[in-house]
Amino acid sequence: MTETAKPVVHLEDDRFKVTEWRFAPGAETGWHRHEHDYVIVPLTDGTLRLDLPGDQQAEARLTQGVPYSRRVGVEHNVINGSTTAPLSFLEVEVVDDAQAHRRKATMERLMAAFNARDLEGLMACMSAHCAFHAAAGPEAEGTIHRGPDAVRAAYAAIFDAFPQAAWTEGAHVVMGDTGLSTWRFRGTTREGGAIDVRGCDVFAFDGDLIALKDSYRKARG
Ligand code: NI
Repeated sequence: MTETAKPVVHLEDDRFKVTEWRFAPGAETGWHRHEHDYVIVPLTDGTLRLDLPGDQQAEARLTQGVPYSRRVGVEHNVINGSTTAPLSFLEVEVVDDAQAHRRKATMERLMAAFNARDLEGLMACMSAHCAFHAAAGPEAEGTIHRGPDAVRAAYAAIFDAFPQAAWTEGAHVVMGDTGLSTWRFRGTTREGGAIDVRGCDVFAFDGDLIALKDSYRKARG
């Protein structure tokens, strides 16, 4: 009977999982698919025999302390190629990015609050030292509104300028401390003028909240 490699989980949080795999001579993991990107750090020298999809086989040399990385989706059965020496490595998996999920949720709440014309809801998405750079204005950045009071007044002015307004087709991505929302804005001004343009916000985050909303809109002409 084939011996199974022993996994020992050393660390598991909302971002990483670190597992030490201990292989007796000839032991194997069994077939598995990697659901996350990962890094392998060999704790011993050794040779891995790999069973791969399509009846393929391969060998990989491990050198103690020399890491390598793989992307999600790898499928294999990993076998200690030595019949005499044990082998072990650390597997560091990137399991998730909880902060990115929370930041994306903030961006979704902000767009919902704009559509609900909910000033309190908007400000609940903004950090204590927030700023808003409007799509148009005299500065290279557009009009700069700095601090919660100025940002609140600028958001209120948007609702005032557009008695009817809808932000739709929202899509949100988070990259590190930066967020990007794209959307379509349809609104009617007090004077009855209609506007229908695509635009985006580039966000800078402070924790889970928005420190800067930097707005861009297409200029139709
Ligand atoms: Ni594997």
